[in-house]
Amino acid sequence: MIPLPVAEIAAITGGALSADHPGDAIVAGPVVIDSRQAVPGALFAALPGEHADGHDYAAAAVRNGAAAVLAARPLPEAGAPVIVVADVTVALGLLARAVLSRLPGATVVGITGSSGKTSTKDLTAQVVERIGPTIAPEGSLNNEIGLPLTVLRADETTKYLVLEMSARGIGHIAYLTGIAPPRVGAVLNVGRAHAGEFGSIDAVAKAKGELVEALPPGTPGPAGSAGGVAVLNADDPNVAAMAARTRARVVTTSVEHAGREPHGNADVMATGLTLDDLGRASFTLRTQAGSAPVTLTLHGGHHVANALAAAAVAAELGMEVPAIADALTAATARSKKRMELRERRDGVLVINDAYNANPDSTRAAIEALAHLTSNGRRGFAVLGYMAELGDIATESHAEAGRLAARAGAAVVVAVGAGAAPVLDGARATEGWQGEAIAAPDQKAAVAALRNRLRPGDVVLVKASKAAGLSEVADGLLAEDDQ
Ligand SMILES: Nc1ncnc2c1ncn2[C@@H]1O[C@H](COP(=O)(O)OP(=O)(O)O)[C@@H](O)[C@H]1O
Ligand SMILES: [Mg+2]
Repeated sequence: MIPLPVAEIAAITGGALSADHPGDAIVAGPVVIDSRQAVPGALFAALPGEHADGHDYAAAAVRNGAAAVLAARPLPEAGAPVIVVADVTVALGLLARAVLSRLPGATVVGITGSSGKTSTKDLTAQVVERIGPTIAPEGSLNNEIGLPLTVLRADETTKYLVLEMSARGIGHIAYLTGIAPPRVGAVLNVGRAHAGEFGSIDAVAKAKGELVEALPPGTPGPAGSAGGVAVLNADDPNVAAMAARTRARVVTTSVEHAGREPHGNADVMATGLTLDDLGRASFTLRTQAGSAPVTLTLHGGHHVANALAAAAVAAELGMEVPAIADALTAATARSKKRMELRERRDGVLVINDAYNANPDSTRAAIEALAHLTSNGRRGFAVLGYMAELGDIATESHAEAGRLAARAGAAVVVAVGAGAAPVLDGARATEGWQGEAIAAPDQKAAVAALRNRLRPGDVVLVKASKAAGLSEVADGLLAEDDQ
């Protein structure tokens, strides 16, 4: 963070500074919410957590060096200046906004969509960091707490902030863009993630489109000129329609698939897409400025759309197409458990895609499984509960089972009671001759697979975070060591 006196942080956040400490103490950052991450000069923000209240850890943070504490109540025992605010989360947003307004050289790139935000954020960061110091969150720090914490890492040297913006409801992204006003915004897709909270696809589209509504007006001219830019996925009609909701210049992306005409007039395209044995995409990246070959290290054809969004952003920030293609080709999966593929010594491939799941990302993962098994390998779809789907939960799980069966999975395992409809969907699929297994928990799933797996088999493990299915992938990989 840029160094600020505590009195100024109090003024920015509308907080009251504890009287027993001088207001001229300097906070140099980082801003942390875990006392164990506090270092000399840090600001410790006390937040109520699921298991613990941050206020109880303020003194520990100060012992670790924190120069000040941001809290919702006085903490005389903290041993450092305490800025007391009504709402610590809101205060973090206000502070991030104020810090960013002092960094006019930093361009904010916002990324949203139902699936692929983290992957695209990681790709975009790995491309644009070649043209300037870039701040991007680790993993998925994409909400009203994670986003300001990420922004607060910026300083005078920062050229780009690549931020993931998530929404579980209307107004969430508008709030985030208020903290970090983006100049460039990319919307990946509108899908069924969090369908329970949103209620309808239209509501999801309304919420995601808040990103492009927040962009400044575009300026005419070639890629790389100043002004707002909305990067929209032309292959998703709900995203393409957002062109009407922005003053920014619109740049469209489209992937040419076999059997489907590409969106002819898209600005940034992938043509000639092929996938290798492990589902890694090669394609030609085409823009009006030129074209260049790309091969991704990420697994699954769905990452091509993500790569195009990253490419469009980078082109708008002034990068040449060959440099973008090089950076995309070199980029790796920075965040874990997204189509993370490992091969056991016995030749069994395990795909850990258990970071999260919704009906669309599950479809993408099953398509990747189908591709990986198209050369005769046997496919195992180990599917757990997809959370937050509301009314469409039962049908969505059944659909996942049907997709796995249609993809020719030899075995479909539903882990946990919530995933049970997966098996109904698979069993009801005409002509499917595979085996349907109900595993009450992760251990049972690993046990069921133990004697069934043979060299060359491919196992996809996919569920929402809360289902904890990463344990199944880890368990299967651990079997290797025995
Ligand atoms: N464009 C996409 N379409 C469908 N699924 C995707 C896409 N991009 C990524 N995924 C899958 O969605 C899951 C979550 O990916 P992630 O990049 O973490 O997205 P998010 O941050 O939006 O949750 C992973 O299983 C990933 O493979
Ligand atoms: Mg994410």
